[in-house]
Amino acid sequence: MQEIGVGIIGFGTVGAGTYEVLTENSAIIQSRVGVPVRVKKIADLDLETDRGVQVNPEILTTEAMEVIQDPEIHVVVELIGGVTQAKEYILAAMENGKHVVTANKALLAEHGKEIYTKASRCGVEIGFEASVAGGIPILQTLRSGLCANRIKTLMGILNGTSNYILTKMSKEGLPYSRVVQEAVEQGYAEDPPTLDVDGTDAAHKLAVLISLIYGKAVSFKDIYREGIQEITPDDVQFARELGYCIKLLAVCRDLNGQVEARVHPALVPMDHILANVNDVFNAIYVEGDFVGPNLYYGLGAGRRPTGSAVAADIMALARRIASGTKAATPPLGHVSPSDGEVPLLPMDDLVCEYYFRFSALDKPGVLSRIAGVLGEHDISIAWVIQKGREINGSVPVVMMTHEARESNVRKAVSLLDSLEELSGKTMVIRVEK
Ligand code: HSE
Repeated sequence: MQEIGVGIIGFGTVGAGTYEVLTENSAIIQSRVGVPVRVKKIADLDLETDRGVQVNPEILTTEAMEVIQDPEIHVVVELIGGVTQAKEYILAAMENGKHVVTANKALLAEHGKEIYTKASRCGVEIGFEASVAGGIPILQTLRSGLCANRIKTLMGILNGTSNYILTKMSKEGLPYSRVVQEAVEQGYAEDPPTLDVDGTDAAHKLAVLISLIYGKAVSFKDIYREGIQEITPDDVQFARELGYCIKLLAVCRDLNGQVEARVHPALVPMDHILANVNDVFNAIYVEGDFVGPNLYYGLGAGRRPTGSAVAADIMALARRIASGTKAATPPLGHVSPSDGEVPLLPMDDLVCEYYFRFSALDKPGVLSRIAGVLGEHDISIAWVIQKGREINGSVPVVMMTHEARESNVRKAVSLLDSLEELSGKTMVIRVEK
């Protein structure tokens, strides 16, 4: 084998980063792979925008199929995102005998089974390290370094945009809408950043992680997700007074038979290692039954970190192509996976501690009314804060509970929200220990 040919479909931020690392570090990559790894073609509909990298115009095309059908290309890198066109390109590449590398978490979370089955039928491989947490090699870690462990807990800050927003709200006391507006204006967030802030992006990544932990598909629609849009500066401030910060967490917990899978804002104790993961950084806390706690930290997005992850997959494939070997493990890391899907715990059965913020009329009997409804639903109060800060005739009342069942919390909150002594909707945030 003289050299490994790579074709890139989608020349945006990650495409440019991938090209940059493969060219800038070509000598070290060749030394580690054994043969040169060369980008032979790049397809993108927009060939005018300056990507900040020097590319020979002869390798640029607007036709993705030119990449897919090029006999000199061994590895097709899909970086256009989305689920429709990207899936067609990936399946076509596999049918043409090409190995595939992708950063497309939405596609893998929603259609992973079909893609992995196709790869196996076509006798090709698929790498997707860049689909979760950008530059952090968490998939490789689960597939190899931690592969002897049962993973008991995985908790991740998997979305840099929402972490940046929450960090700024916390440091500067600003409301959500103002921080988002500034983040969009400064180019830190998409306009609008819906999938980042509503938990979808983190849930896609969690689905990929869970499928790797258990070696089988997980039903993406059954992963509970809730975003950060309703968090107020008051919540951030109250959480701090109670010794917590607020993070958008993706949680997978093994309950021996069922698996908790959820993405939502959570109160995290200030002394938890994830509480110090700020700004656009990502982190994944993993607890294995033998290894104990591990933490992986780094940049979860951006041209160079994500380009680094894509290049690592390309190199792993290149080594095997050059040596004529096949991957020792399938994409989900289990050679003999059991059938079916990962059995998820219904959200109603979740048991955890809760933070409630009510907007209450400041008059006698209101606290006892709230406490009464909670008590009737088997929810025991651990802390109460009420301060005389009147907002539109109401005062915020914050309660922290002992462990309670989610179904009881939902029933109690729906009853409380109908009381005339309370205005607005109760803010409910789960507490993660
Ligand atoms: N938009 C994501 C984030 C990065 O903000 O973390 C790509 O998955």
